[in-house]
Amino acid sequence: MALTNKLRYFPTTFAWGVATAAYQIEGAATIDGRGSSIWDEFSHTPGKVLSGDTGDIACDHYHRYPEDIALMNHIGVTHYRFSVSWPRILPDGDSHHINAKGLAFYDRLVDTLLDNQIIPAITLYHWDLPSELQIQGGWLNSRTSDVFAEYAQIMVAVLGDRVKQWITHNEPWCTAVLGHLTGEHAPGVTSKDAALTAAHHVLLSHGKAMMAMRSTRNDLQIGITLNLSQVYPDQPSVESIRAASLQDVFNNRWYLDPLFLGHYPEELIDIFGKQPQFLSHDMDLIKQPLDFLGVNYYSAQVVAPSGDNESPWPVRHVTPKDRITAMGWPVIPKGLTDLLMRLQRDYGPIPLFITENGAAYPDEIVDGRIHDVDRIEYLSDHIEAIADALAHGVDVRGYFLWSLLDNFEWAFGYSKRFGIVYVDYTTLERTLKDSAQWYGRLIHDALSLP
Ligand code: NOJ
Repeated sequence: MALTNKLRYFPTTFAWGVATAAYQIEGAATIDGRGSSIWDEFSHTPGKVLSGDTGDIACDHYHRYPEDIALMNHIGVTHYRFSVSWPRILPDGDSHHINAKGLAFYDRLVDTLLDNQIIPAITLYHWDLPSELQIQGGWLNSRTSDVFAEYAQIMVAVLGDRVKQWITHNEPWCTAVLGHLTGEHAPGVTSKDAALTAAHHVLLSHGKAMMAMRSTRNDLQIGITLNLSQVYPDQPSVESIRAASLQDVFNNRWYLDPLFLGHYPEELIDIFGKQPQFLSHDMDLIKQPLDFLGVNYYSAQVVAPSGDNESPWPVRHVTPKDRITAMGWPVIPKGLTDLLMRLQRDYGPIPLFITENGAAYPDEIVDGRIHDVDRIEYLSDHIEAIADALAHGVDVRGYFLWSLLDNFEWAFGYSKRFGIVYVDYTTLERTLKDSAQWYGRLIHDALSLP
């Protein structure tokens, strides 16, 4: 059945949004009192980011936000998820020194969105830790979790009258694994122990921030965004099923279990050689009821046992690659339906938002147009996968397409384009891709069903 016939599964209150993150689009890295973040340092370290790209200018959204909001308005999105740059608010990581100009930017941004009837949703941490906090140990120091809670409280005090949906963290797995185990992301640490500790402190900071935000206002919807991926065994053998279950612990349950069940999965010991060390009170903070769970979904994984006893990692990926994006990620929309149903079954009932979904493809401008048919197909298939979950009664409340604009794709710099709006990085000119027109029509159709 085509997507058009499934639009009736989306409630009229469904959020049809787009998503971005501060370091990836704002630029203006040294403007109006912004402090330095670990991503400024990392991107300026030779060899860390492809072609030496940095977020110094990015899409210059800091100055061009009125134009970007006009684009969103033109497309017809109902919601916009963006992140706040922590070092713009607390330039030296100290909550006694608040940068008023940084707050004023988000104040203007929110007001302009509301003037355009676009509902804002804020992510507090999308990876740009103030450098000063990194000097004090960053996510390896539990004090960072206290400062995060103070920062969260400051933001809610200023914007909570107008912004009701709040996401504490974006993809803690990436902070822990890419930032502290493989070192592909800032701060570039490579240690199993560090990954385990960073993950715990991020979760702890989520819990402390929830308390601080709730003590400031009682009318907010607060959640966290995880990068989740459905994991399938390559065959129904005991060994493959065990491999899939271990991969599921590593990718998903490491975060889901503490947040929803109040304990870490025992199998973490098989991955890290030990369990996370923490104070008994920490879990009470971490497992506070969430108002919603944010799900970032890009792909699924098919795994088999590595078959190599010497290998430190007992799992091997055998995911089919017949349909892949420019990131090399296999396109598996059914994984999203299965994932959403599994979340409802194992951790629900809980309102779910798809806080990111989208794809990079090598877009080209031809006669002023970008015919990104692959992206349209990717998006259509995944939105259809959500409709299937809705048809099964899963409580999905919204979809935030990643991303509004082409932007700084972390270690890949500007080489990967995820936007539905093309950005020329020389002139900073924006051009709507065909996918933006397509998404606009889809939203219009979904909202005008009888
Ligand atoms: C997830 C991250 O939240 C976002 O920052 C990134 O650009 C996309 N995935 C695409 O990789």
